[in-house]
Amino acid sequence: MTSSVNLPLLVLFASALFLSSLLVVAGKDLKPNRREVYEGGKIFDISHRYTTGMPAWESTKGMVNFLRLAASMKNGSVANVSEMKFSVHAGTHIDAPGHFIDKYYDAGFDSDSLDLRVLNGPALLVDVPRNKNITAEVMESLNIPKGVRRVLFRTENTDKRLMFKKEFDSSYAGFVTDGAKWLVENTNIKLVGLDYLSFAAYEESPATHNVILAGRDIIPVEGLKLDDVKVGMYMLHCLPLRLVRAEGAPTRCILIE
Ligand SMILES: *[C@@H]1O[C@H](CO)[C@@H](O)[C@H](O)[C@H]1NC(C)=O
Ligand SMILES: *[C@@H]1O[C@H](CO)[C@@H](O)[C@H](O)[C@H]1NC(C)=O
Ligand SMILES: *[C@@H]1O[C@H](CO)[C@@H](O)[C@H](O)[C@H]1NC(C)=O
Repeated sequence: MTSSVNLPLLVLFASALFLSSLLVVAGKDLKPNRREVYEGGKIFDISHRYTTGMPAWESTKGMVNFLRLAASMKNGSVANVSEMKFSVHAGTHIDAPGHFIDKYYDAGFDSDSLDLRVLNGPALLVDVPRNKNITAEVMESLNIPKGVRRVLFRTENTDKRLMFKKEFDSSYAGFVTDGAKWLVENTNIKLVGLDYLSFAAYEESPATHNVILAGRDIIPVEGLKLDDVKVGMYMLHCLPLRLVRAEGAPTRCILIE
């Protein structure tokens, strides 16, 4: 009785296997697995993909021609070799102290000088009130517990999907100077994450960067992808490229629940 049921199933299974192996040979299922979330929500990739559709600072064109095949198999090379050329402040990236403070640049406070212990550890993801930049008042209202050292601030930039639009939008939400001062004076936050190309609102960008970078102990992480992650505590891992003499660096960041 059971064998008469199982035999057709077995034949079906075997032919499915055979067919799928044919497909593999034909290359039809050669499809990369691109993910945002792993293991049903344990690991979140909060870095943005580098694509031509991504915004570039003060540009309407996005990331133009940032990647090219310097050697191509289609043209007879033994391998495909790509080269990239773009601002170190493009996509998900960190700022080093030398970005806005010239004497720190000269002294070598570059992306290779950043403390991996700050870039990796427990982090709080918070939603900031929409329709506001991050002022002292907003910072106070967030009631971030005193011991928290790393905070990812999700703003309306995420709702507006600004990092997915190639036209740079200078009206993005970010820290204004008094919000940054409040953070330095009243919290133990050493990593400030935001969801657009700069953590500092456009109009006050230099002054706000100065406040955060002056002590050389706070690391801004910018251009984070904070869609579809619940607010709360995670383990954050950010690993910037070790670009000696560069005041910024592309950075891969993930959250682990
Ligand atoms: C090599 O580069 C060509 C473009 O010349 C591209 O079509 C192909 O997919 C690449 N191959 C690999 C293995 O990446
Ligand atoms: C291959 O070579 C041709 C001729 O030099 C050039 O026009 C084309 O852009 C090259 N393609 C790639 C993928 O390098
Ligand atoms: C935030 O500041 C920018 C200027 O830097 C401004 O264009 C924008 O409207 C402000 N956003 C809000 C929500 O007030």
